[in-house]
Amino acid sequence: MTDASPPIDLTTTSFLELLGEHLPSVDLSAPFSIGREGTIPVHIEGRVALAPMAGVSVQAFRRQGRRFGASVVFTEMVSISGLHYANERTRDYLRIATDEHPIAVQLFGTDPALMREAAQQVKDAGADMIDINMGCPVKKVSKTGAGCALLDDPDTAVAVARACAEATDLPVTVKIRRGMKNGSHDFAILGQRLVEEAGVSALTLHPRSAAQMYTGFADHALTAKLVELVDVPVFASGDITDRVRAEAVMALTGCAGVMIGRAAQGNPWAVRDLTTGKAVEPDPEERVAELVRFVREVVREMGDHRATGFLRKFYGWYLRGDAFGKAARRELMVMESPAEVEAHLLEQWPGALPQLAELEATVRYPDDTDRVIELPVSAYGGG
Ligand SMILES: Cc1cc2nc3c(=O)[nH]c(=O)nc-3n(C[C@H](O)[C@H](O)[C@H](O)COP(=O)(O)O)c2cc1C
Repeated sequence: MTDASPPIDLTTTSFLELLGEHLPSVDLSAPFSIGREGTIPVHIEGRVALAPMAGVSVQAFRRQGRRFGASVVFTEMVSISGLHYANERTRDYLRIATDEHPIAVQLFGTDPALMREAAQQVKDAGADMIDINMGCPVKKVSKTGAGCALLDDPDTAVAVARACAEATDLPVTVKIRRGMKNGSHDFAILGQRLVEEAGVSALTLHPRSAAQMYTGFADHALTAKLVELVDVPVFASGDITDRVRAEAVMALTGCAGVMIGRAAQGNPWAVRDLTTGKAVEPDPEERVAELVRFVREVVREMGDHRATGFLRKFYGWYLRGDAFGKAARRELMVMESPAEVEAHLLEQWPGALPQLAELEATVRYPDDTDRVIELPVSAYGGG
């Protein structure tokens, strides 16, 4: 495909015209591997990945994503300086549960020496892959030269990725945007250099510019271009919200896998739709049961105090639709503890109790046999 290729825009239905008469013949459940010579290859059972999202992709979210069918999950980005100065305020626990694998821990930073050190810590934590963030447009990150700023500084980007690849035998992957500025094609040369010079084993492209943040659309014609240019698996990220779009972007770009981000926030059923094609809207009771279970896992993961603030945004995401209403959502957001939220929800929706009991009986909580290591978790939002 050339630069003149028509845009592939999943935010409208224009992509359907590009598909023409033929339904795409792609298999979202086909297994594949990530890893090149010298790395321990990671076997992945299907083509749907759960995106790294700061302030969202905690362990409870990732485990739920796996339960609803995601084949591989990514943590939110973790600062390599935070890891180095692990006594700082950001210190926290990053846990990898036995049922999360395969999992990539995402790192961000610019110092190759710190990256080497961080990569080793991630390996010790039991991760399967290390992902590097080269797309985050949030000022707090880019002003340090990390995240999207690396799109404008390819030599540093390659040096950081190479240091990471050389540090351990885990496959290293990198997540990029199209470039800093609107219309940029910097992803093309950088993507090739990351693969050829740094030894990266897979790439994810979110084909918006950093300037775009989340506006407009992700032009997956660029994903098709990157797929042509590199001989490692490429994940497509951006605006993939349902099965039709997932299949279309696979068929139109030749990407190895798709990544679901915002559509999965408070909506694990979207992950199930992508992976199985079963687009069943959950009834309100199921939403409530799944939310209560999520609340319980988050409380175990980060404690009552942090969970209270962290969970607030999830209430609106889970309880969408007329069955709940704006006032009910607002009411939950001002409650002072997750326990209060849980009691209130179950009082309002007693029909959720049997489904919740079923979840409690069948879905395990992470326990002491799971890996628990001390790592600081990123405090930044946006990517
Ligand atoms: C709240 C939020 C946090 C994000 N944090 C990260 C991050 O830590 N690392 C990253 O590579 N991308 C991050 N992203 C970008 C997503 O991984 C994804 O590329 C982007 O949202 C486009 O996909 P979507 O349309 O499926 O949401 C974040 C996105 C959102 C909405």
